[in-house]
Amino acid sequence: MSVTNEKPVDYRRFLSRVAMERNDPSSQFRGGKLRPDNVPLSFGYPYSESLPSADLARATAASLTEEGHLTLQYGGGPSSELLRKLLFERALRRGVKAEGNDIVLTAGSMQALDLVGRVLLDPGDLVMTEAPSYFGALRVFQTWRAQLIGFPLDGEGLVTDAVAAQLARWRRDGRPMPKLFYVIADFHNPGGITMSLPRRRALLELAEQYDFLILDDNAYGELRFEGQGLELLKAMDDKVRVIQTGTFSKVIAPGVRLGWAIGPQPLIDEMTRVNVGGGLSTFVTGALHAFCREGDLDRRIDGLRSEYRRRKDAMVASLETHMPAGVTWNNPEGGFFLWLEVPAEVDMEALAPKAREQGVTFVGGTAFFTDGRGRNYARLCFSFCDNEQLERGIGILAKLIREQLDEETH
Ligand SMILES: Cc1ncc(COP(=O)(O)O)c(C=O)c1O
Repeated sequence: MSVTNEKPVDYRRFLSRVAMERNDPSSQFRGGKLRPDNVPLSFGYPYSESLPSADLARATAASLTEEGHLTLQYGGGPSSELLRKLLFERALRRGVKAEGNDIVLTAGSMQALDLVGRVLLDPGDLVMTEAPSYFGALRVFQTWRAQLIGFPLDGEGLVTDAVAAQLARWRRDGRPMPKLFYVIADFHNPGGITMSLPRRRALLELAEQYDFLILDDNAYGELRFEGQGLELLKAMDDKVRVIQTGTFSKVIAPGVRLGWAIGPQPLIDEMTRVNVGGGLSTFVTGALHAFCREGDLDRRIDGLRSEYRRRKDAMVASLETHMPAGVTWNNPEGGFFLWLEVPAEVDMEALAPKAREQGVTFVGGTAFFTDGRGRNYARLCFSFCDNEQLERGIGILAKLIREQLDEETH
């Protein structure tokens, strides 16, 4: 029987209050089609040639041949366990001691962040973050209706003195205290900055003094291409207050959707318990375990590091060539991004549609704050574009910034 629908259903009426209140990070993610020659400095993606399709095809075939009947069945065979073991070994090499049930595998680290929110947060709970911070995580915490409070970054990462002062004020005023601090200590998104060792120590001490947990989103941690590796917050965590998330998205491929969280067992147990919906794909864990076993993941990561360093250097060289005086940027030691600051009279949000028309996209700073700040910043991603694109994209951007500066001064 067919029904003629005279009046379309208003589906928004059915949405939960949480969904209606959710704050979309930025209008910059919408908008029409991109030009075919667009330079996407907006994409936080690994470059396409790095995605290991042939090796993954071989690994998938090996996994199915060896134990397909187990991998493809409910319950899923030994691959998840073996992958967990491999992740423990890799974590241990970086000083993170974990075992047994201290890890939960997830569909990308985004799901790990969501599970943290799911098990820890009640509406109105305070979550501290860096400001700016990764919009995906901010959105997750907003979905769980947390109240977000941002703290500034400088060249050493999170300004822990500002955090200490605020916590002392809240305690003195008898205000509710925060439960969680979400940080990206290594190769920040969007800031590109790495938190210094003294700041890491200070943050851990504050967590102990004011009784909160730390969530360290280590999405880019393996991609250091310059400078000295620093001890991970989780490796320094003798009071066991840190949950660390990780992912294969940046070192193997985002499409495999495999991430994890390592943390205190009672919390990981709870995250595992609430992770309803069929659990992890054992088809994927089987293929990835075979991929890691057969290929040399370390050698692969070394190759990525030198390529990302090259791309970062190319972007920095283009910025130096093209940007007008007054525009500044940092020089990250790893990861995918650098953070551009333009003079206050330039509005990157207003400039974004013009840049898009002329063939370059970037993410303006407001996407990384929850209070409308950030108009004179932009996140520039160097991981996806090749040399020619980087040079062209930065050239277009610099011209638009210069034009806006000239308009202001005339
Ligand atoms: C800081 C940070 N955390 C988490 C993620 C999510 O990654 P995935 O869910 O692919 O593991 C990203 C992706 O861009 C990121 O930049």
